[in-house]
Amino acid sequence: MNATVEDIEGDVSRRDFIYLATGAFAAVGGAVALWPFIDQMNPDASTMSLSTIEVDISPVLAGQAITVLWRGMPIFVRNLTPEEIGKAKAVDVADLKDPVARLLGSTAELPASAANITKPGKENWLIAVGICTHLGCVPKGQSPGDPRGPYGGYFCVCHGSIYDTLGRVRGGPAPRNLDIPPYEFTGEAKIKLG
Ligand code: FES
Repeated sequence: MNATVEDIEGDVSRRDFIYLATGAFAAVGGAVALWPFIDQMNPDASTMSLSTIEVDISPVLAGQAITVLWRGMPIFVRNLTPEEIGKAKAVDVADLKDPVARLLGSTAELPASAANITKPGKENWLIAVGICTHLGCVPKGQSPGDPRGPYGGYFCVCHGSIYDTLGRVRGGPAPRNLDIPPYEFTGEAKIKLG
């Protein structure tokens, strides 16, 4: 069964998501301005996430992952193990199907290295848009017991796309790596998305 991008919010909120409603909150000012606007433009958007959210990721231990909703998109947050980091860094970017780090909203074409996909000193944290770049399904790999494919990252069951632990496409029909949303660390284990 294929899911479209339009289906994702509904699907994930029911099944695939841990939506950190209590752990995510709007940046000061953002919520006040945004919510009335959304409510006026589209009542159905009352469930939309805010444009900027902060997420406390401290409960996510090495080897664990959570998915949060941001701007209607599932955002994969994964705390990579030292072994996973080591394997990801050992990959020759030139061998990748898509050698470019896909930074959402940026036209920069940086190599898809661990250094460009993660933040300095935070190489263990993958923060990526959990939407398959083929036709928009949500890849598996976030939940315990999910298929993760031969690279231990993500596997899209819709048509078989394979991603590694940094969201880099390694097989199947997906043309591009998972997008990396704009984010920054605002604390040792706290991120601001957007
Ligand atoms: S949507 Fe086709 S492989 Fe993911």
